[in-house]
Amino acid sequence: GLAGRDVLVPSRTSYPCGGRAQCTLTRSPGVQCFLRHVRATGFVKKQCGLVGLCFGGLAFQGVSDHSGLYKFSVNESDRFWGAVARQRLSWISPFHTVQNCDFSQGKIKWFEGGKLNVSVNCLDRHVHTCPERVALIWERDEPGTEVKITYRQLLELTCRLGNLLKRQGVRRGDCVTIYMPPCPLAVASMLACARIGAAHNVVFAGFSSEALADRIRDAQSSTVITVNQGVRGGKVVDLKRTVDQAVQNCPSVQQVLVAMRTENTVAMTDRDVPLEEEMMKEDVVCEPVAMDSEDVLFLLYTSGSTGKPKGLVHTQAGYLLYTSLTHRYVFNYHDGDVFGCVADIGWITGHSYIVYGALCNGGTTVLFESTPVYPNPGRYWEMVERLEINQFYGAPTAIRLLLKYGDEWVQNYNRSSLKTLGSVGEPINTEAWEWYHRVVGDGRCPVVDTWWQTETGGICIAPRPADPEAEIVPGMAMRPFYGIKPALLDTEVGEVLSSNDSTGALCISQAWPGMARTIHNHHQRFTETYFQPYPGFFFTGDGAHRSKEGYYQIVGRLDDVINVSGHRLGTAELEDVVNQCPAVAESAAIGYSHDIKGEGECLPKTRSGKIMRRVLRKVVERNTDELGDLSTLDDPDSVHEVIRGHRRLR
Ligand code: PRX
Repeated sequence: GLAGRDVLVPSRTSYPCGGRAQCTLTRSPGVQCFLRHVRATGFVKKQCGLVGLCFGGLAFQGVSDHSGLYKFSVNESDRFWGAVARQRLSWISPFHTVQNCDFSQGKIKWFEGGKLNVSVNCLDRHVHTCPERVALIWERDEPGTEVKITYRQLLELTCRLGNLLKRQGVRRGDCVTIYMPPCPLAVASMLACARIGAAHNVVFAGFSSEALADRIRDAQSSTVITVNQGVRGGKVVDLKRTVDQAVQNCPSVQQVLVAMRTENTVAMTDRDVPLEEEMMKEDVVCEPVAMDSEDVLFLLYTSGSTGKPKGLVHTQAGYLLYTSLTHRYVFNYHDGDVFGCVADIGWITGHSYIVYGALCNGGTTVLFESTPVYPNPGRYWEMVERLEINQFYGAPTAIRLLLKYGDEWVQNYNRSSLKTLGSVGEPINTEAWEWYHRVVGDGRCPVVDTWWQTETGGICIAPRPADPEAEIVPGMAMRPFYGIKPALLDTEVGEVLSSNDSTGALCISQAWPGMARTIHNHHQRFTETYFQPYPGFFFTGDGAHRSKEGYYQIVGRLDDVINVSGHRLGTAELEDVVNQCPAVAESAAIGYSHDIKGEGECLPKTRSGKIMRRVLRKVVERNTDELGDLSTLDDPDSVHEVIRGHRRLR
């Protein structure tokens, strides 16, 4: 009596996936079949008439390999995503419609009718099964001073903060701005918002007060959460002071919650709330709000080629499902592994893989506060040894920088814990790829070059989604993830390029649960940017090549977005600044190729993102002997680049 359905849902939500465990699958109440689990993503052996691929705790009957499952995921996308969503997420009430999407209107809705709470999925359910498991390892700036936070502790922090936010008047649907470096309280703040139904808007804590103010105003936040000071690369950064400057121009802000990262006191006003002190007065229980699948989870601002940064909107269920599935399968993450992503939580990589994907999977995830070269260029690998990191996820710009320091900085440390090496943010050149693979991974760890964007929510193209045996070609993102159907379009005539060995605009031809839903307050800009350039397709802004074998290689941006060290810079934003100078009639910002950063822009900036105009003025006045104090510059070399460039212009 087992024929007739392709997808069977296990009667238990989790079971040992490692060895030859037995799992019970139920087709309908009372009808059970016993299946032998050969390995985590292996085949389910026949024991009572059913043979199918086991993936994500589901048996896909009639599917015999990963390419078959990929076809099923794109051809039968409702059945695929419906089954995976029921299996992986804890729902307060079930959804009635898997998807309701129409690219022509930019309408993207997943799992309508369903109610859930993201913080419950990331915390409570793990507290029930393994409360003392480490959720976060806070790798603080000073090596060897890491702090471990268990799931039970993180739930407590989150609940206290959720209660404090409620006491401060934050309501469901409000948007809280978080301006903090990676730390447990930043993660707890994000999850506290999710718990009480508020959205968050995390702003990278390296941004200037102007950039922060722009984002607070656009999000209309009444509450900002920050720290007194940040610590990075041995330097103290006055983050609270940046917030003070920003909120002067943000009438919506009623209160600033200030956590203490250092022991130094900072000036507090009536608007400021001492975070730790006040949260300790709150209860450790905070009732989670039942959120609709399509309620907003967060805004995250990113640069485009025109206008102000866009506040991309991600929602609850689809985003959480997509990040947890990609985290599990792209990195081959298993229970008990330590996941070390060195991105900042202020970027989408931090949101999706340090926080949501990893915690939804009950993972142990690292929060890296430092830099790749502090106190020396062995920092990453010393950390890998000390924390026994299994998956290391970083950016090509750091790899290119570190390889210049030589192999000893890597070889000094034991990296035998490493299983998967990931790369993200920009194309990884062959030299960096080879070094990462050969030296860092001792030639034994697969390097997964993951292509995705703030807009896609999670990884869309990666070498081995789910199939740990598949071939990998250096420097290629390669294969679409389950449910992702890429297309290349001719940039001149807009037609689909169907043959292999072709290059075109990288588009995605059908919706997936992790994609952004809109631009905050600018739905028209959303449809114009992503759906109108190639009607019927989501346009990524990138160009790609499909090889003879059918593998994807990302070529780079087709628009004017500049990618410096994996960070997106909008040309219009740079030009805006330059045009403020009365002597400038017109300006054009362009990127130029740079050995380490991928592309360069040569403005000397402080760590907090301020352009040092005083230095520029001296260069233009040819007073390069009197540049003054350069110690707050983020990259002192940038000044020499400006001097060289200015000489060339003369
Ligand atoms: O151009 C692509 C590049 O980074 C852009 C997305 O930037 P952002 O939204 O800031 O997200 C970065 C982290 C996901 C893309 O449009 N990019 C990202 N990953 C890769 C990449 N380019 C080449 N290869 C990659 N693996």
